[in-house]
Amino acid sequence: MSIDGNVNGAREEALTAEVVRSFAAADPRLKEILSSLVTHLHSFIREIRLTPEEWGAGIDFLTQAGHISDDRRQELILLSDVLGASMQTVLVNAPSNPMATEPTVLGPFFAKGSPLAHEGDDIAREAPGTPCWVEIEVRSESGEPIPSARVEVWGAGDDGLYDVQRNRDTMANRAHFFTGPQGAVRFWSILPSAYPVPADGPVGRLLAATRRSEMRPAHLHFLITAEGYSPLVTHLFVSGDRYLPTDAVFGVRPSLVVDFPEHPAKEPTPDGRPVNGAWRSMSHTFVLAEEGPRREFMAGQGQNLGNY
Ligand code: BEZ
Ligand code: FE
Repeated sequence: MSIDGNVNGAREEALTAEVVRSFAAADPRLKEILSSLVTHLHSFIREIRLTPEEWGAGIDFLTQAGHISDDRRQELILLSDVLGASMQTVLVNAPSNPMATEPTVLGPFFAKGSPLAHEGDDIAREAPGTPCWVEIEVRSESGEPIPSARVEVWGAGDDGLYDVQRNRDTMANRAHFFTGPQGAVRFWSILPSAYPVPADGPVGRLLAATRRSEMRPAHLHFLITAEGYSPLVTHLFVSGDRYLPTDAVFGVRPSLVVDFPEHPAKEPTPDGRPVNGAWRSMSHTFVLAEEGPRREFMAGQGQNLGNY
C-alpha cells in the first residue's frame, strides 16, 4: 500500500515505469517527450481515479474531433487552442527580451499565397466592415527601422468570417507587404470584429458544457518575418472589446491591445481616399527579436509556413 492509502499504488507506479522504459531505444528528444507525456498522463489518470466510462467518453470526443476535421477545418488544433495548449506552446517559445512584441496564437485561418499589396492599397476587397487606415512600423530591439520585412496580414469581416470560410476563391482582408526604407507599411483594411470560433462540433460542445464563451475578441493577425530576426506571429486587439477578458483561446496579451480611434465622415482620410461614412485608424510599432537558436519553432505551429 502506498502512503496515500491506495492499495494499487505500487503496481500503478510500476506500470508507468514499464511504459517509460519501453522508449529506451528512441531518439533522445522523442524519448524525453514520450516519457514525460506518459508520466503526466498516468499521473492524471491515477490522481482523478478515471473510470473506464470517462476514458471512453474522452476517446469518443477525440474520434468525433477527427471525423469533423478536413482540409478546411482542423478540430484538433481548435481543441489545443481552447485548452490553452497552443498559447502555452507560444509562451514557451517566445523571445525572452521584454522589448520584443509579444507573440500569440497563429489560429486556423492563416492561408498561404496571399496577394502582394503596396502602400495605400485597400486589402479588404469584398470583406464587409468599417474602413480602417493601418500604419505599421517594424523595428529592431534597438529601435532601428527594419526595411524589406515581410508583413502578412489577415482578419475577419464584420460578418465574423474569414475569406477562407466564405467558400469563395478570392482572398479578402488578407495580403502581404514589404516594409519600405523606414520600416513602415500603410494600408486600408477594416475595423476588426469579434467572432465565434467554429462551435458546431465537439469543441463547441465542450465550451457549452463548461459554460465558456466561444468568442474571440476583435483582432487583426500579423506574421512578420525579416532576415536576421525571429519570425513574429501575433495579433493586435481592439481596446474596449467586451470579449478581451474571456478570449476562447487565451490569446490576449495586454501589450497587444491597441486603440482604433473613430473619425467622423467629414474628416479627411490620411491618403485623401474618399470613404463612405465614419472610418477608423490604428498605428502600431512591432519590435522583432534578433534571431536566436529557437528559430525552428515556426515548424511547430501546426501548419507549414515554409514558403508562404
Ligand atoms: C483566430 O484568431 O483566427 C483563431 C484562433 C484560434 C482558434 C480559432 C480562431
Ligand atoms: Fe482570428
